[in-house]
Amino acid sequence: MSDAALPPPLIPGLPGLGRQPVLVTGGTGTIGSQVVLELLQSQIPARVLTRLAKPSTTEGLVYVEGDLITGAGLQDAVSQVQAVIHCASDASRGREVDIDGTRRLTEAMARWAPDARLVHVSIVGCWDNPLPYYRIKAESETVVTASDRPHVIARATQVHELVAKLVGAHLGPLGVGMRGLRFAPCDSRWLATQLVDLALDEKLPVEPVEFAGPEVLSARELAVLTAHVRGRTAPRLLRLPRVGGVLRGLSEGSNLPGPTARRGGRSYVQWLAEQG
Ligand SMILES: NC(=O)c1ccc[n+]([C@@H]2O[C@H](COP(=O)([O-])OP(=O)(O)OC[C@H]3O[C@@H](n4cnc5c(N)ncnc54)[C@H](OP(=O)(O)O)[C@@H]3O)[C@@H](O)[C@H]2O)c1
Repeated sequence: MSDAALPPPLIPGLPGLGRQPVLVTGGTGTIGSQVVLELLQSQIPARVLTRLAKPSTTEGLVYVEGDLITGAGLQDAVSQVQAVIHCASDASRGREVDIDGTRRLTEAMARWAPDARLVHVSIVGCWDNPLPYYRIKAESETVVTASDRPHVIARATQVHELVAKLVGAHLGPLGVGMRGLRFAPCDSRWLATQLVDLALDEKLPVEPVEFAGPEVLSARELAVLTAHVRGRTAPRLLRLPRVGGVLRGLSEGSNLPGPTARRGGRSYVQWLAEQG
């Protein structure tokens, strides 16, 4: 992580002002790295759990090597933290990382950081679609709610980075689309500010909180916008039939936020234009 994006500390030489660190699992990933930046910009010491720790050159940032699958490093990672923002995940090893790993994390918190609160990052609509990764996310939420840790479940819609990959993927002149497929793309930088606010909130919301971007766009609109901003021809969409629970769920909007979702951040096009 570079220092370039960080503002100078409010009081030079006193970063963090003695505050306890916040642990970010998955702090090297898409959402987690934004959370780390937000913590540092708020002068809150950030600790990152990663399978491959490197020396940190950034004041207030420490990497702790560990693995949610084995439990290695968890004691060092959670000790003395005021909160954990849990962004680590692995779709290909979901049971080991997202379910059993989340359980290991809550047990480590109970033992070595009993007062720390847990912000568990999950996905909007994970209970409403049989997609295997969504089933895993739903079960990981159950692990958190069944633990006796002070916690909040923070469900987000697909972040701009993921949406750009999904709608930008095409086979020659063809893109893959589905009738009715829409997204409410979410700005990971804005989401990070919300996750940090939740982690520091004295009173944690009891119900899961949903986060989403300001607008809902169809996959077709997103593909055209992405191609336009990147100076390419928009792919002709290959329409997939709505067969099977996964596709049917998505085409019916199971990935879209509910009426109480917190909405904000840069729109998809604003974000795309800033990517250069
Ligand atoms: N991306 C989205 O659109 C989106 C939308 C809504 C919710 N979410 C949820 O938000 C969370 C973060 O998503 P993301 O897209 O930011 O993920 P990501 O970019 O794929 O990052 C995953 C992180 O998990 C860590 N990790 C993987 N296996 C681990 C293990 N065994 N032990 C410890 N850490 C491990 C990795 O750290 P190292 O490689 O450094 O170890 C990496 O930083 C996930 O729970 C996801 O379900 C994502």
